[in-house]
Amino acid sequence: MNQSEIPNGPIPLSLLPDSAEIGRKGELLIGGISVDELANEYGTPLFIYDEDHLRSRCREALTALGEGTAYAGKAFLCVAMARLVTEEGLHLDVASEGELRTAIAAEVPGESIVLHGNNKSLDELSLARSYGVGRVVVDSFDELHRLQQLHQKDGLVSSILLRVTPGVEAHTHDYVSTGQNDSKFGFGIDSGAATEAVEECASSSGVDLVGIHQHIGSQVFRVDSFARALEVVVAFSEPLGLPELSVGGGLGVAYLESESAPSITEWGEMLRQACDGLGVQARVSAEPGRSIAAQAAITVYSVGTIKELPGIRTYMAVDGGFGDNPRPMLYGSGYTAFAPNRVTEDRNSITRIVGKHCESSDVIVREASLPENLGIGDLVATPVTGAYGYSMASTYNRMPRPPVLFVSQGKARLVIRGESVEDLLTLDVD
Ligand SMILES: Cc1ncc(COP(=O)(O)O)c(C=O)c1O
Repeated sequence: MNQSEIPNGPIPLSLLPDSAEIGRKGELLIGGISVDELANEYGTPLFIYDEDHLRSRCREALTALGEGTAYAGKAFLCVAMARLVTEEGLHLDVASEGELRTAIAAEVPGESIVLHGNNKSLDELSLARSYGVGRVVVDSFDELHRLQQLHQKDGLVSSILLRVTPGVEAHTHDYVSTGQNDSKFGFGIDSGAATEAVEECASSSGVDLVGIHQHIGSQVFRVDSFARALEVVVAFSEPLGLPELSVGGGLGVAYLESESAPSITEWGEMLRQACDGLGVQARVSAEPGRSIAAQAAITVYSVGTIKELPGIRTYMAVDGGFGDNPRPMLYGSGYTAFAPNRVTEDRNSITRIVGKHCESSDVIVREASLPENLGIGDLVATPVTGAYGYSMASTYNRMPRPPVLFVSQGKARLVIRGESVEDLLTLDVD
């Protein structure tokens, strides 16, 4: 992007959580509390989630996508989030023992849990079965065999969906594209594996096949990608006469001023029309993650070091980095930035915002426009960090993971405390 294309007006409210408002001094408030006050109290880096935004997206998803819609916990999960989605009537998609145990700790009813994973262990499957998990989305023949093996011991029968790959390339980054034939996920329709899996289910006493599942990828903006995948999957699933069809997640969200994405309501409408057009009789559900959580949060950092390279660029180093947001490094994802105490000001100064990890790839925003003359100790923030930020966080360089707050109506509550170096040291054995 050349400099003239980088937006230099104030950060648009459309990229901020729903409750974002501007205070008298030009400062940002979320959930009725100033970001500056929260940063002073909880320190930086800090994830701030607008709880009402999360709740409103859950309600929108339930209305648009129907009963049985599951929030994909991989986008962001903790006990408070698992409780929130359950209170709002959504089911919860978990994809590992850790996510499952989080759901159990939050007392999410078993029947509302959907278990995913391309390599579920016997232990994970056993835990899910003993907790009465509602749906296991089976990904491989090995998993079918494991379920049969467990059934022979405990007599339990799992209600399952089979994950199929429609052989459709979603228009998204290769690393988050999952619907193509060459994928580690699911049973290929083209190869005949999906048909074989259905036959195996029919002769397996340990599973009750109730439906088909697809997920073509993540951060998908083009509704035609979903529609094409549905055509293929429905041609496979409808003749089976199964009662359920899950279309997975994947709806893209806007991270930048220049992007726009369909709303959850528009996505639901497109799916409904496509399913009606294809004569789907099964109950259709979905698994949105990013579209519920992404825009609900911002990450707040403090500026630590500024390095001017005349004629080249200015580097602004903050107290976080790819440890709290690996998406730019993993996918080359673009973010924008703003100064939470100066949100009404134009952003005329172009800076590269970098983290403090020992890697040159530790870039948070490649070309950030910020108000002029920000200095050491000032706050900068990145919007749209509620999905696949904290959940993908690492402790590289032994940097502890930041705390996470939920704010609503003038109150803040800590939902994940900040990790300390002492926490990390507890794992070490002398
Ligand atoms: C099976 C499945 N369902 C749902 C999702 C959620 O996708 P998104 O967060 O893009 O909505 C994912 C994401 O990887 C997934 O793998």
